[in-house]
Amino acid sequence: MQKFFAGLGLLTMIGLTGSVQAREACTYEPTVLVHGGAGDVSDAAIPNKKLGVKLAARKGFEILRYTGSVLDAVEAAVNSLEADPNFNAGYGSVLNWDGEVEMDAAIMNGADLSAGCVSLARDIINPISLARRIMESTKHRYIAGPGAMRIAEQEGFNLLPPGALITEAAIKALQDYKNSLNATQTQKGVVYGSPGTVGAVAIDACGNVAAATSTGGLTGKLPGRIGDSPILGGGTYADNESGAVSATGHGETIMRYNVVARMLALVEHGNYTAQEAAVQVLEQMTQRFNETAGIIAVDYRGQLGIYFTSNRMSWAYQRGNQVHFGVDAGEDEIEFGEPRTTDN
Ligand SMILES: *[C@@H]1O[C@H](CO)[C@@H](O)[C@H](O)[C@H]1NC(C)=O
Ligand SMILES: *[C@@H]1O[C@H](CO)[C@@H](O)[C@H](O)[C@H]1NC(C)=O
Ligand SMILES: *[C@@H]1O[C@H](CO)[C@@H](O)[C@H](O)[C@H]1NC(C)=O
Ligand SMILES: *[C@@H]1O[C@H](CO)[C@@H](O)[C@H](O)[C@H]1NC(C)=O
Repeated sequence: MQKFFAGLGLLTMIGLTGSVQAREACTYEPTVLVHGGAGDVSDAAIPNKKLGVKLAARKGFEILRYTGSVLDAVEAAVNSLEADPNFNAGYGSVLNWDGEVEMDAAIMNGADLSAGCVSLARDIINPISLARRIMESTKHRYIAGPGAMRIAEQEGFNLLPPGALITEAAIKALQDYKNSLNATQTQKGVVYGSPGTVGAVAIDACGNVAAATSTGGLTGKLPGRIGDSPILGGGTYADNESGAVSATGHGETIMRYNVVARMLALVEHGNYTAQEAAVQVLEQMTQRFNETAGIIAVDYRGQLGIYFTSNRMSWAYQRGNQVHFGVDAGEDEIEFGEPRTTDN
């Protein structure tokens, strides 16, 4: 486990990995970076959003240390946010027009480009884990609706009673949305319900990356609507040779602009850093479509990208024993991680 800590030095790394190849390659700083959705986060919602993303980054990082797997890390980080009603994923997902929860998720492994995607998942708290089961136990990459729920059943997922994922806040958001349609002046760009698609990216000491995104979608969406989150190259992608990205924001725009694929193309072929690529693609998207989005990314050099054209986006990452987080543009608060006593 210690091999993940640059502070412990190269000698420890060599000792634990025991291969010449690893000795040369495993010099990255392991990092888990999460987001909790881009959009108009209200002032009142900020404290809970910050708590949620910090906890998720810590949980993901802890799993990265113990299992050494970036896939385990992004899954654990997203699971934490799916269980938190302050985010639009798992418990707390927004409602479609019929008042039901239909969730989308995708997970991808940058080492071999294995991936699993699910849409229209219902009555499970962890759609990202179902996406991972689809990746690992089927020969398909993307399964939706009843077929996906059959896999959840076969794989022993806890199938909750209908309605168990619905919160009061989600019911109110749908009501507000429906009321707004009858108002004489409709407001463009207003999103009902707190923004809260969730995602995570991670990199290990050897430069392996992974990405995961999970969402309840859009309040009042038509039943069957699928956004960008589960679409590889739309809202989620990971490739060791370029980087890992999770997007959030206006799904209909993100998917048709291939936001994540465009970003990684700039990283791989244009020598952009994750941050430079994020700024360029999101600014272009927002200028062209007048819709906003946010991304988190880690590139193959281990550099992080955090950017949004929306008013706000909650995010956090742990690297070493520091947890960085923020929600407003330019904000970067720092806390120290829990002191570790179980490294050995
Ligand atoms: C909106 O107006 C329609 C038609 O006038 C009506 O049927 C519907 O109940 C109204 N919705 C709300 C939420 O008031
Ligand atoms: C862009 O959208 C905002 C609302 O999100 C609106 O106020 C503004 O007028 C729009 N601008 C253009 C050029 O359509
Ligand atoms: C993933 O990328 C890292 C860094 O480039 C490399 O060392 C590692 O071998 C890659 N893993 C695979 C399975 O290609
Ligand atoms: C890539 O960009 C970095 C700065 O980010 C620069 O130092 C390096 O020389 C560039 N490499 C190439 C091949 O342009």
